[in-house]
Amino acid sequence: MLFKQQAWLRQKLLVLGSLAVGSLLYLVARVGSLDRLQPICPIEGRFGARGQAEFPLRALQFKRGLLHEFRKGNTSKEQVHLHDLVQQLPKAIIIGVRKGGTRALLEMLNLHPAVVKASQEIHFFDNDENYAKGIEWYRKKMPFSYPQQITIEKSPAYFITEEVPERIYKMNSSIKLLIIVREPTTRAISDYTQVLEGKERKNKTYYKFEKLAIDPNTCEVNTKYKAVRTSIYTKHLERWLKYFPIEQFHIVDGDRLITEPLPELQLVEKFLNLPPRISQYNLYFNATRGFYCLRFNIIFNKCLAGSKGRIHPEVDPSVITKLRKFFHPFNQKFYQITGRTLNWP
Ligand code: A3P
Repeated sequence: MLFKQQAWLRQKLLVLGSLAVGSLLYLVARVGSLDRLQPICPIEGRFGARGQAEFPLRALQFKRGLLHEFRKGNTSKEQVHLHDLVQQLPKAIIIGVRKGGTRALLEMLNLHPAVVKASQEIHFFDNDENYAKGIEWYRKKMPFSYPQQITIEKSPAYFITEEVPERIYKMNSSIKLLIIVREPTTRAISDYTQVLEGKERKNKTYYKFEKLAIDPNTCEVNTKYKAVRTSIYTKHLERWLKYFPIEQFHIVDGDRLITEPLPELQLVEKFLNLPPRISQYNLYFNATRGFYCLRFNIIFNKCLAGSKGRIHPEVDPSVITKLRKFFHPFNQKFYQITGRTLNWP
């Protein structure tokens, strides 16, 4: 009898103990996530915000959920007014480089409570028809945000389009410009892979990379091939430097963003004068995808679309060597101008 009672008591204690541990774990997880949702340091003075001392928690709630509704246009003018939401011109733009990891960078920066991303590529400055619609059209394409937040957009075509630096300069001569680069040959192959996939989707055939990248007459690198030209980063950057000083640019190492995103993001936070808020908690490696994915909180997480992280076709090693040799002097110049050495081969 006594033995039975003891067993019963032990069982009860076990259940109560599990409940207590479970609650404790839940609280720790919750407090951990709430802690990250605490008001961030004010960033007034940095981006000329209106001097609010605190960054309201509701801003984050909006950012995570309701802003989505605002973006979809499911809101009334009163609601926008009530919550003090505005559509702001970007304070920073990811200007390129195509296939450098521009989407990953934008999405990862959007983890920061003070950053609101423009989800779509707007192509305002590189598309004459859009540009002719005027700056108000561009502003109206921006997501709703709080005045203390900053809007960021990405359109990788900006980096290589002739007219863009002057146009952006006319909008805001002190704007911050982000350029994410990858090892130039890998980037060119990634660029080719994207075009190839598009062709295959339409049941069209396409040339092999080797045929496009190497001029068959001279056996030299074909500089007329767009994927090659885009990877000559220094040539494009030099055009931008006619309008903006180098201090207004930040170079993101796209290869490192793949393998070790946090330190790259921390450098961007610093460049944008944002308090450090993106943490390892926000980034987890997904072995199935082979990439880091994003964790907003205990409930919401996401990986980038399948179109990011394609398998590249195999390329003749001699062509790779030739391309790397070709890019080498341009890379050296790029390191020299930007002050960021990337140790590309
Ligand atoms: P690949 O498809 O060649 O692997 P962009 O967004 O500028 O088009 O860049 C696409 C590239 O982003 C991908 O090129 C991929 O390698 C890179 N990338 C960086 N971080 C990533 C991430 N977390 N998830 C998926 N792709 C990522």
